[in-house]
Amino acid sequence: MNVWKMTMAMPALLAMLMLAGCGQGGDTSGQGETASGAGNTPAAPALPVPAAMQAFQDDGNVAELVIEGDDRMQFNLDRMTVQPGQMVRLTLKHVGNLPAQSMGHNVVIIKVGDDPFEFSTDVNESGGSLDNEYVPEPVRDRVIAFTPIIGGGEETSVEFQAPQEAGDYPFLCSFPGHAGMMNGILAVQP
Ligand code: CO
Repeated sequence: MNVWKMTMAMPALLAMLMLAGCGQGGDTSGQGETASGAGNTPAAPALPVPAAMQAFQDDGNVAELVIEGDDRMQFNLDRMTVQPGQMVRLTLKHVGNLPAQSMGHNVVIIKVGDDPFEFSTDVNESGGSLDNEYVPEPVRDRVIAFTPIIGGGEETSVEFQAPQEAGDYPFLCSFPGHAGMMNGILAVQP
């Protein structure tokens, strides 16, 4: 479905090259600098991929989570639950019509105790943009996992391994101004 899924099994360096040079649906057979395809993945600088996203592997016990965002700046869920260490496939569906430039949505899962509103502020103050999915480099070490930004009618997903440590992990949409309305908890519990 998207570049995240395809890069998870690759070494980090190759993954970053792919992120920089490959559009959605691109060939993963080793070309790191192919021209962008029909997707909306921008020519972003190479950015670190959170460890939990690199750790994903299909072990036959993958938690399938689906969340929707709409044109009213709302998620349809404020709580999702997975088991510690479980492999997770989180799908975001934008069920509205507005484009990503004006009503972009993503899902960003951050660490226990971090604050969605502070995180969003820091995104805006450290270079957040569509080019980096509103997860700029300075905040990436605070992220468990995140999806790309999408607009109305689009769908995306991210695969990652849930933390081993149980707890309430906040999630948010990091598009400017959305965290106040669009946030919730990923509960990691046995
Ligand atoms: Co949003």
